[in-house]
Amino acid sequence: MHMVKRREYMTRLFRNRFGSGPELWARAPGRVDLMGSHTDYNLGYVLTLPISRDTWIAARANGSRVVRLHTANVDEEDCFPLDRIQKNVSKKWSNYIRGVAAVLQSEGLRLDGFDAVIHSTVPLESGLSSSAALECATAVVFRELGGWGLDLQTMARLCQSAENEFVGVRCGILDQYTSCLGQNDCALLLDCRDLSTCPVRIAPGIQAVICDTRARRQVAGAEYELRRRQCEEGAAWLGIGALRNITMAGFRARKNQLPPEVLKRCCFIVAENQRVLDLVPVLRSGDRVSIGRLFAQSFEGARDLFEICSPPMISMMNAMLEAPGVLGARQAGAGFGGCLVALVESERTEEFRVAVSTNFSEATGIQPEVYPVSAAAGAGLVPEES
Ligand code: GLA
Repeated sequence: MHMVKRREYMTRLFRNRFGSGPELWARAPGRVDLMGSHTDYNLGYVLTLPISRDTWIAARANGSRVVRLHTANVDEEDCFPLDRIQKNVSKKWSNYIRGVAAVLQSEGLRLDGFDAVIHSTVPLESGLSSSAALECATAVVFRELGGWGLDLQTMARLCQSAENEFVGVRCGILDQYTSCLGQNDCALLLDCRDLSTCPVRIAPGIQAVICDTRARRQVAGAEYELRRRQCEEGAAWLGIGALRNITMAGFRARKNQLPPEVLKRCCFIVAENQRVLDLVPVLRSGDRVSIGRLFAQSFEGARDLFEICSPPMISMMNAMLEAPGVLGARQAGAGFGGCLVALVESERTEEFRVAVSTNFSEATGIQPEVYPVSAAAGAGLVPEES
């Protein structure tokens, strides 16, 4: 949706719902990981891209201690009192907002009630972090209305706590960090141990494209939690605290101590961490052959060792590899459905899009969504001109 149209559409909804127009526009982007699946909770590295799909919140202080919400995506309403924040059992989306409010408040920050309309262009449950985008945009609204400062690193950590403690999903820091610290025009190398980021500019002529299987996934699912426990078990066996703390050479020397399933999981994570570091210079220089090799190794590991690739993902991977202009293709997000990501020759993006859509729908009978994304700025106010 065009940005001006989006603003008009949300303003109209806001007026219909709450009488007059909004006074504050907050936004936060989704993300796609270009390399580094499940490395974040192992305190490793991720090469992550904040994307040009984002969540907007149009808000206005209402002078009360109540937050009143309308979400345009699912056409639902909710409201909750700031003095007694509880989980909403039926409206899951509301818990990301409630959770952020609860965590900010427990930090001693003063919160004001507001009315809001929410609209997101990040598809839900597709592995592009629609939940983090909603959490981070919410934190911006509270910060602006409260008039207090909150640095973006702390904002990311508090939003992660909201998801871990209030929503009850034991995710890592990747999603919230990307959504808060994104920069226009570049990917980020994120070190999940010291939480530092480093901008990585992708060489000209290379375009990131999302290929959504539209098979929805649940990150809260048992499989994500199981992978996390298996990684923790591996790190405990090796006595290294977190899988980040071992090199491939060190791991090879000691891996026979591990139970077979844990071994496979750890093998993937240790190699995937190294692939993130290897991809950084390759993306900067635009070395097409190495992009293809690293992406292929990441997908094979995710499929055979970490076992997070569902049949629709495998069909999508085949469709992507057969399409013109492809440089590399791999899984994105937690896996078990959702999106894959490709890097393609920019000038062949449209050809690639058409071919992937045709290949995938012929193979599966499902119409996928395939679209290019560019790097977007992190959480903040919606720029005036949009
Ligand atoms: C989900 C989680 C992240 C990360 C990815 C996998 O998106 O929220 O913390 O673990 O899966 O890389």
